[in-house]
Amino acid sequence: MHLLLSGIGKRFGAVQAVVDADLEIRPGEVLSLLGENGAGKSTLMKLLYGVHRPDAGSITIDGRPMSIDSPRTAVALGIGMVFQQSTLIPALSVRENLVLALGEGRWWIGRRGQALRALDERLQALAPGVDPEAAVAELSLSQLQLVELVKLRLRAARCVVLDEPSAALAPAEAQRLWSLIRALAADGVAVVLITHKLADVRACADRVAVMRAGRVVAQVGAADADDDRIVGWMVGEAPPAVRAPSGSPASRPPRLWIKDVSVGVARGIDLQVRAGEILGLAGISGGGQAELAEAIAGARPIDAGEVILDGELLRAPRRAPSPSSRLGVIPAEPLRNAVAPALSLGVNLALRRFGELPFRVDRAALERQAAQLLERFAVRPADPAAPAGSLSGGNLQKLVAARELSQRPAAVVACYPTMGLDVTATAQVYETLFGLAGDGTAVLWISEDLDDLLHYAHRIAVMFEGRVVRVLDAAQTTAFELGAWMTGLAGPVGRAAAGSSDEVFA
Ligand SMILES: Nc1ncnc2c1ncn2[C@@H]1O[C@H](COP(=O)(O)OP(=O)(O)OP(=O)(O)O)[C@@H](O)[C@H]1O
Ligand SMILES: [Mg+2]
Repeated sequence: MHLLLSGIGKRFGAVQAVVDADLEIRPGEVLSLLGENGAGKSTLMKLLYGVHRPDAGSITIDGRPMSIDSPRTAVALGIGMVFQQSTLIPALSVRENLVLALGEGRWWIGRRGQALRALDERLQALAPGVDPEAAVAELSLSQLQLVELVKLRLRAARCVVLDEPSAALAPAEAQRLWSLIRALAADGVAVVLITHKLADVRACADRVAVMRAGRVVAQVGAADADDDRIVGWMVGEAPPAVRAPSGSPASRPPRLWIKDVSVGVARGIDLQVRAGEILGLAGISGGGQAELAEAIAGARPIDAGEVILDGELLRAPRRAPSPSSRLGVIPAEPLRNAVAPALSLGVNLALRRFGELPFRVDRAALERQAAQLLERFAVRPADPAAPAGSLSGGNLQKLVAARELSQRPAAVVACYPTMGLDVTATAQVYETLFGLAGDGTAVLWISEDLDDLLHYAHRIAVMFEGRVVRVLDAAQTTAFELGAWMTGLAGPVGRAAAGSSDEVFA
């Protein structure tokens, strides 16, 4: 399928999200779409998928002008999209979600058993290891991405748009995703891959398009787009380098103590994060890091153990979890877990303080404080009255960082804190996080970015199949060694390398 978008414009109230945008999407090619947070990438693709209607411009498919008035129309035309936030239904099983996605109710009656078997086989072939009966809520992030892709495969989409699919995937998982995407392109599918990671471009793009302030400012072959040029198109100039946290916290007292905690697949986790320390937590998804972080945050009850903050019991089994103003939390999937989308930015920023606010809230003061925070964390648009749900993915992430990191917490649990952030915003969130550590905050940092972990963390705890298999001194470790512990190829778990090592280190 060959698609041409010409002169596309879209305005939301005062925000001109997309301006006079031209984009060509070719069959059999992977087009990487890049640009700063809020540049208009998701909006442009939602216009193609019929989520929004353009104010101006035209879309032609295989030479014919098309009006795409709804996602239903887009799907009928053979267009598929995987959104920044998963659209699978968490309470239903993988199989039920796939049946719904096919939307062929009558066809299923009568041939149900046979059809379901065929469906399971396709799932097994495309996403090995994903249980058709598993509830979607229990899937790891990487499994979620695979199921979303299977859904598009089943619909035989001829144009596939993926909005930041690799944002929270460990290298080995991203590798699997890239092979699936390359296979799609080899089948002649036109693929659009929205990403902030230049490594993704290297891994699988044929062409590169860059958006800036709503416009498509560059469209070139991947060979003609080196990293410096791409960053230049995105932001004009490279952001200042982040200073790595200084000092050695090795002799400082522990502030956050995760004491023999079991929760979900995570078993017997014992970790201490010292004052001023950045303790990285690495692992492939499903290794238990997510559950552990949710448990510390108080979003999930623990089965055993205790979490202690500055000597005070914070979490224990059968103890009602409650938010603590001394603990900053940046959860995974902030739209689902950390904001009220329908409420304003101002209210969202104050959510943590509602307990201390006077009965009659001074709305003007609230908005004044919010405006300062929005400015400091460069949230765009910096309008305290705008609903949180209208922010772009990266700006939403910045909003949560602004709320959680601005209160001088004793400890911070940060899950993928720079997920979906552009280079400038990433630098800014790191500066804030490391600055807090410099002032004595204990930071537990869950990340899939091995280079950043090695560069900025003091120590890195590696989880594999629910256990901490190793705590590494970041200064003495290589990405290779870290990767080996993450995938169970190193150490006591001692999986045979056969069959999977090429995938891990390719
Ligand atoms: N439904 C909406 N209502 C109001 N404003 C919106 C809406 N959707 C997007 N916007 C605004 O349009 C602009 C572009 O947003 P978009 O989500 O397309 O950015 P993006 O390039 O995908 O950014 P990110 O990398 O952060 O995901 C932003 O200023 C955003 O706030
Ligand atoms: Mg987006």
